[in-house]
Amino acid sequence: MHWIFWPIASYLLGGVPFGLLLAKLKGVDIRTQGSGNTGATNVARTCGLPLGLTALAFDLLKGLVPVYIATGMSDHWLFLSLSTLAPILGHVYSPFLGFRGGKAVATTIGAFLGLAFLPTLVCVVICIVGIFASGYVSMGSLLFGAALPVAMLVSGRMELAPVALVVTLLLYWRHRENIARLARGQENPWRRKVT
Ligand code: G3P
Repeated sequence: MHWIFWPIASYLLGGVPFGLLLAKLKGVDIRTQGSGNTGATNVARTCGLPLGLTALAFDLLKGLVPVYIATGMSDHWLFLSLSTLAPILGHVYSPFLGFRGGKAVATTIGAFLGLAFLPTLVCVVICIVGIFASGYVSMGSLLFGAALPVAMLVSGRMELAPVALVVTLLLYWRHRENIARLARGQENPWRRKVT
């Protein structure tokens, strides 16, 4: 029973658009500002760093909490993979936003920290280094995505490599406009308001 119930509950939790809701507290519709993304980067860009970090924490927790609980329900790799994918898909294809949503970096970080803490932590470090080295959150996010399946393989968590690879492909798909802007040298820095 929990094989069906828990991924559905995790998907619904992942669908709660915390960035959008937090920005609304400041009277900002995040979908029409900055990059238009509902994630923490765009909240920081348009509403300031404190609210951006708050959105980051909520988006991270909505991945971490359901996956952490799932690890106590079963250690079957398929159940854990489905329970990891569910909040990420909820964030990207939110049932509360007409199946639209964000780019899922924070929720992916949270979900994989709950699933495989140390390998994911290494990927987070790579992400942070990438952000500060390039000046772009998207560059850090892309490096994080590239590192994730490799980290699962190298750390011996082979059974988690498939879900990590699926999430990486999803992250790259959701960042396709960022990739094009990075290639043109026109990516939005997180600080600046863009139109
Ligand atoms: O987590 C999303 C980040 O990688 C890019 O966000 O708003 O610059 O498209 P944004």
